[in-house]
Amino acid sequence: MLGTAAGGGLPQWNCGCAGCATARRTGAVRSQDCLAISADGTAWYLVNASPDLRSQLLAAPELAPAPGTRATPLRGVLLTSGELDHTLGLVTLREAAELSVHATAPVRTALHEAFPVGPLLAPYTKAHWRTVTAGTPVELAGGLVAEPLALGGKRPRYAADPLAPSAGGPSDDPSGSPCAERTDWVVGYRFTEAGGPARAVYAPGLAAWTPGLDRAVADADVVILDGTFATDDELAERTGGARTSRGMGHLAVADSLPELARRPGPRYLYTHLNNTNPLAHRGSPEAAALAPALAAAGAAVAEDGMLLDLGGSPSRTAV
Ligand code: MLT
Ligand code: MN
Ligand code: ZN
Repeated sequence: MLGTAAGGGLPQWNCGCAGCATARRTGAVRSQDCLAISADGTAWYLVNASPDLRSQLLAAPELAPAPGTRATPLRGVLLTSGELDHTLGLVTLREAAELSVHATAPVRTALHEAFPVGPLLAPYTKAHWRTVTAGTPVELAGGLVAEPLALGGKRPRYAADPLAPSAGGPSDDPSGSPCAERTDWVVGYRFTEAGGPARAVYAPGLAAWTPGLDRAVADADVVILDGTFATDDELAERTGGARTSRGMGHLAVADSLPELARRPGPRYLYTHLNNTNPLAHRGSPEAAALAPALAAAGAAVAEDGMLLDLGGSPSRTAV
């Protein structure tokens, strides 16, 4: 787990709330959501490319180049969304000799138009853009297989639908039209080794608990999921705004916990924690108060630098 915070990180640079102040004082910080995964321990893939990527890569010895070479173990990037907290780090990878970037069709388009990081990288590195499709597994190096799961239709704000009512467009958007809602702006990945049972499911953005996700977690060792907000009205309560967790495309922990409790078996880890979320603050009284409910559902909070070794069953963890 390279990073476990939502966009902005913990502390967020312009936030002086009690939690961010404590993080500044104690050093209990979180960098922005990013995962590195490997099936053979040699060929590694990033899931998302956070704005904190450079320091995240430097902190992971597994991702260092072989001594005396520029042979990086990084083989590519899989994106779960086109959000800036998941894509700004692509620019950090410009020194790569080659770079494979896997994204769904709408995200790939957004990264070539509204946020043209694709064309921007072209003079720097040989980037291979690959379109992934929900339900179609992608075979990666080292025996890793990633099956994308469609998890939500929320677009990044920089790529808002100009036809959406909120942007002044028509109020109805008949399904089947070119601007009909897509559910693959946000995806998760179900990782297997050569098509075996799921080792890990990664879903840092989860608009709702979908039947597809339900099937995907059934045989997983570990499920790393959206822990942006503890409750649906957390952000509104903390900032005085009107945005709900669900309205931002994030199922709150309070709303996913019952789903977890009904599907025991996998080890559940919450990630992409916003700095407003009490669970983001290790050791806080609020986090301690929520811990029993998490534990009862087989869940815990992910931490930066966590290493999950799923080489055997049951899984073991080194931190
Ligand atoms: C999200 O996860 O909802 C986005 O990253 C929020 C944002 O930074 O705009
Ligand atoms: Mn985010
Ligand atoms: Zn704060």
